[in-house]
Amino acid sequence: MYRTHNCGELRISDKGIKVKLSGWVQRVRKLGGMTFIDLRDRYGITQLVLDEKAPGQLASTVEALGREFVIQATGTVIERASKNPKLPTGEVEILLEEIKILNASELPPFTIEDDTDGGEELRMKFRYLDLRRAPLRKALELRHRMAHEVRNYMDSQKFLEIETPYLIKSTPEGARDFVVPSRVHQGEFYALPQSPQTFKQILMIGGYDRYFQIVRCFRDEDLRADRQPEFTQIDCEMSFVEREDILQTFEGLAKHLFKSILGVEFDGDFPRISYNDAMNYYGCDKPDIRFDMKICDAGSLKGKGFQVFDSAEYIGAICAEGCAEYSRKQIDELTEWVKRPQTGAKGLVYIRLSDSGIKSSIDKFYTPEELQAFADSAGAKKGDLILILSGAKKITLSGLSALRLEMGARLGLRDGKIFKPLWVVDFPLFEYDEETKRYYAMHHPFTSPSPEDMSLLESNPGEVRANAYDFVVNGVEIGGGSIRIHDSQIQRTMFKVLGFTPEEAERQFGFIINAFRYGAPPHGGIAFGFDRWCAIFGGSDSIRDYIAFPKNNAGKDVMIDSPSIISSEQLDELGIRLMEKKV
Ligand code: AMO
Repeated sequence: MYRTHNCGELRISDKGIKVKLSGWVQRVRKLGGMTFIDLRDRYGITQLVLDEKAPGQLASTVEALGREFVIQATGTVIERASKNPKLPTGEVEILLEEIKILNASELPPFTIEDDTDGGEELRMKFRYLDLRRAPLRKALELRHRMAHEVRNYMDSQKFLEIETPYLIKSTPEGARDFVVPSRVHQGEFYALPQSPQTFKQILMIGGYDRYFQIVRCFRDEDLRADRQPEFTQIDCEMSFVEREDILQTFEGLAKHLFKSILGVEFDGDFPRISYNDAMNYYGCDKPDIRFDMKICDAGSLKGKGFQVFDSAEYIGAICAEGCAEYSRKQIDELTEWVKRPQTGAKGLVYIRLSDSGIKSSIDKFYTPEELQAFADSAGAKKGDLILILSGAKKITLSGLSALRLEMGARLGLRDGKIFKPLWVVDFPLFEYDEETKRYYAMHHPFTSPSPEDMSLLESNPGEVRANAYDFVVNGVEIGGGSIRIHDSQIQRTMFKVLGFTPEEAERQFGFIINAFRYGAPPHGGIAFGFDRWCAIFGGSDSIRDYIAFPKNNAGKDVMIDSPSIISSEQLDELGIRLMEKKV
């Protein structure tokens, strides 16, 4: 037997018993004549102690130990002289009687403790060592518990977990596909699913009226802290439902997870906000509503001879409470911040409502009364600082959104322990792309128009709202879904608006168009980004810590060195010829 207990479970009540523990040596410390060893496993850390009077054989084995050696220790649980209140096992230690080295370890390239000296890239390369650290272990434990609770709730609501294939067919909408060459059918390719969208709809046609799956999805898109090329969704679909049924069911899932995982309960329903209001008041479609600081239209500042405003398509402002005394330096720094390419503003105008009166960077063009009237309309009061951006509407709103989040963070209004979920509804069905001069589905081509906008589908697509919804928590888009089109005629019109000829639509989506001919029930669904949900619950901005083996910023797995080149034999077998340079 390797162990009688794990390294996280012994307490003062176990005093006097003889135990065997197995684990990794985190640290060896010598103090006076005694040697202390921190022994670690998945469950925690237990201190081992070697008495100065211990036999020579035992002492020399301890002497030989290095960091991350795997050992088995036998001894008696004793009360510690100096207790460690930070450790659950901190009241006891094991007085060593025997120690066995199960495996030696090379010196690890970074310290494997809660705070590590290892850089991100090094830790990714030695992911198995990083995984031994408690913060990662806790993240994966949280992920496990989340998955478990998702399954509990979905099962209680009669959802069936059904797997869908990974080797599927490339379709032109959405992000880029990862493709897999076929050896048997040379020149042909499978694609890895960006989501199981078409399969879950086909399951509805198959009569499985409540489906879910915790499923890997693959998207060849640019990486960010909250995006991975392979990530996991909680993918769901229901038949015989309207939007309200979906929102209620999945608000139920969200509340179940908040309660069972975090112990957080909510009074009443989650708020809902239309896409238009989200854009106008928060400058983005995933508002962080932990704090107010809404954007207000500052169009009334036009026409006073300030050229920058007069020529702007849009002027918008936010009011930073209690910031009137920001120094010149702080304002200059904010101005540089909004000018970064990510934010893209040309400059920043401010109005201070300080005790000594109203003062702005545009005093030349406006009287104090005019500025005061604007400040009043913006709901600003003495002590506040109004920050104004202007320019093209889309880019200015996105700049204001970024500035709002930045000011929220600086003012400590984005507390990771507070959760403000909401639904964003009434998205536009299409986005128009100036470059390719065509409409794209904002969600995906199977999303139903809102019933009241159905008649505009062909005549005025830009105005049609989608029967779609997003689930947002603290400014992060956790999930999105829609009621689907179940009428093949409307689906055909949709493809037409998206610029597909009937032949193209048939070639790309024939299987689902055909399936719709055989009694498709009304249906709709949603998918949640599981990694993102875990990260939000864990209080982190990065989803990587919640994925056991993530890709780095460049989309690489540096531990296994992937992607990597393959042999010319493999390429020949697949009938793939690469350009000389690459092979
Ligand atoms: P959507 O594309 O909005 O919808 O994806 C659903 C959720 O998945 C998460 N997500 C990601 N997480 C990590 N890395 C990525 N690269 C990534 N991309 C998306 C987000 C997002 O809200 N089939 C539809 C759902 C439906 O209509 O039912 C879909 O995939 O949290």
